[in-house]
Amino acid sequence: MTEDLGATTRRYAADIRSTNRVLLEKALHMRCLAYLSKAKAGLLTQTIVEVNRAKRSLQASYEHLSTEQRVITQQKAELEAVNDELRSFSYAVSHDLRAPLRAINGFSQMLHDDYGDLLDGRGRDYLNRICLASSRMSDLIEGMLVLGQVARAELHRLPVDLSAMAWEILRELQESSPERPVSLQVEEHLGARADRKLMQSVLQNLLGNAWKYTGLNAAPRIRFGRTTHSGATCFFVADNGTGFDLRYAQRLYTPFFRMHDAKKFPGVGIGLATVKRIVERHDGALWVESEVDKGTTFYFTLGEGPKATPA
Ligand SMILES: Nc1ncnc2c1ncn2[C@@H]1O[C@H](COP(=O)(O)OP(=O)(O)OP(=O)(O)O)[C@@H](O)[C@H]1O
Ligand SMILES: [Mg+2]
Repeated sequence: MTEDLGATTRRYAADIRSTNRVLLEKALHMRCLAYLSKAKAGLLTQTIVEVNRAKRSLQASYEHLSTEQRVITQQKAELEAVNDELRSFSYAVSHDLRAPLRAINGFSQMLHDDYGDLLDGRGRDYLNRICLASSRMSDLIEGMLVLGQVARAELHRLPVDLSAMAWEILRELQESSPERPVSLQVEEHLGARADRKLMQSVLQNLLGNAWKYTGLNAAPRIRFGRTTHSGATCFFVADNGTGFDLRYAQRLYTPFFRMHDAKKFPGVGIGLATVKRIVERHDGALWVESEVDKGTTFYFTLGEGPKATPA
């Protein structure tokens, strides 16, 4: 059977239309792709520009930072040099002051011994005051020297049994005034990696203060132990002594600052300044809680967290 011409033409026409539609769709698809890749390329270019800009600003910040760091390093070096100079100056002054002071002390004593009888009451009182003042001055100078030594001393971190050290100090204090009924409590096996000699000075000062400032208490109590304070594990020295107003806490560590009457509680005012320097040299911290007539607790860390020594 043969197809008539009309039908063949219609079929070809239909084929052509369908081919055209496919071609048209493909062309449309291609155009879309081209558009999309163009958009993507645009986006990519924009992103690269932004990344480069961020990189440049980062570089600038980095350069700024390293300039600042250089300045800070330089300032730190200058500060350390000035500090060193100050330290050796105060050491030299304190050292040189000792000789004339020794002369004042010595001659006052000779005056007292050899010519004391020739003086009336007022004369002897003046002489007495000269002796007291020069002996106080020699304590102050000694204090300055101690502070200087603490700042300069080389730090040797070794395991130290702080409990044993605390007992030893407390026993000496007890022997110095056996009449005092002080209740003592020391937590066992407390140790740290620290400088033995400097730790001796820390405990000597803190326990010595606890001993001294409970002096007017009828039932004095002193404790040395370990605790957690504001999330930090630390050592503490606590007493139930005279206490003080915490408003002055910041000044406590200033050399020669004292809050109590020298007649009731004698001292130079160098102990806590020394303790603070030692604790800071161990990268630790020192802080205090106190209440008038209730007692005082000093807390300290040693930059490594307190450790228990093996039993
Ligand atoms: N446990 C304490 N209780 C009450 N006050 C204290 C205590 N520890 C220190 N203080 C106050 O802080 C001041 C400074 O203490 P610091 O140990 O430096 O000097 P000091 O004991 O007076 O003299 P020293 O140089 O002989 O130790 C003291 O004069 C006292 O007023
Ligand atoms: Mg003291």
